[in-house]
Amino acid sequence: MHRKLVVANWKMHGNLASNKQLLTAYIEKLSHLKNTDVVVCVPYPYLAQAQAMLQNTHIAWGAQNLSKDTVGAFTGEVSASMLKDFGATYVIIGHSERATAYCESDENIATKFMQAQQHGLTPILCVGETLIEREAGVMQMVVGSQLDTIINTYGAAVFANAVVSYEPIWAIGTGLAASSDQAQSMHEFIRSKVAAYDLAAATSLKILYGGSVNPQNAVQLFVMQDIDGGLVGKCSLNAQEFEGICRAAAQ
Ligand code: 13P
Repeated sequence: MHRKLVVANWKMHGNLASNKQLLTAYIEKLSHLKNTDVVVCVPYPYLAQAQAMLQNTHIAWGAQNLSKDTVGAFTGEVSASMLKDFGATYVIIGHSERATAYCESDENIATKFMQAQQHGLTPILCVGETLIEREAGVMQMVVGSQLDTIINTYGAAVFANAVVSYEPIWAIGTGLAASSDQAQSMHEFIRSKVAAYDLAAATSLKILYGGSVNPQNAVQLFVMQDIDGGLVGKCSLNAQEFEGICRAAAQ
């Protein structure tokens, strides 16, 4: 089993004052946790604030998206090197909320994944199926094809320094998390899919679970063999709940 990783995804929440409170509480509550890595992915404008408050702590920070392009006339986009300028070390790629609302294709997501890696950022690649796809029993096919776009273009070795987050769309923000067996079974599938091409990459790959993680279900989820931590939305906005999740990971 890997050292666990817990990532806060603040989504489009916060302001300077509330972030200050929340990050202060994170630092107080989480700096003694030695057995787990903690990352907070903030909205772009607050990267400087995260950097100022979190440097010299055990908590790392990152962003929730990045441009697929390196530099140029791309109004409104933010490049990988800009994220690096603010000390970011992780970036979420292909979150379903973006894939749906902003029509991100698997090809775009694959390009972003490489942009992140080429600039020394660890990509957190989100994959997952809809409820209809799960009910139809095609969830492995769906997740497999999301991974295939990257594997077919760049090879499986790129997963050695990456994180994949399994986020079933039906579990995001619904309060209805996947059961630990459902999550474990998909995580095992993801790892074996990468292993079929590159065993070393599959072994070092961290696979997080995301979707209504809370301090209670985290305990059951994080003991599973292939669950290396969590990507946490709502509960990351509450320092006490986030601490509970990080503690479950540190056990
Ligand atoms: P919730 O934890 O609010 O369900 O969000 C999960 C998520 O989308 C993390 O990226």
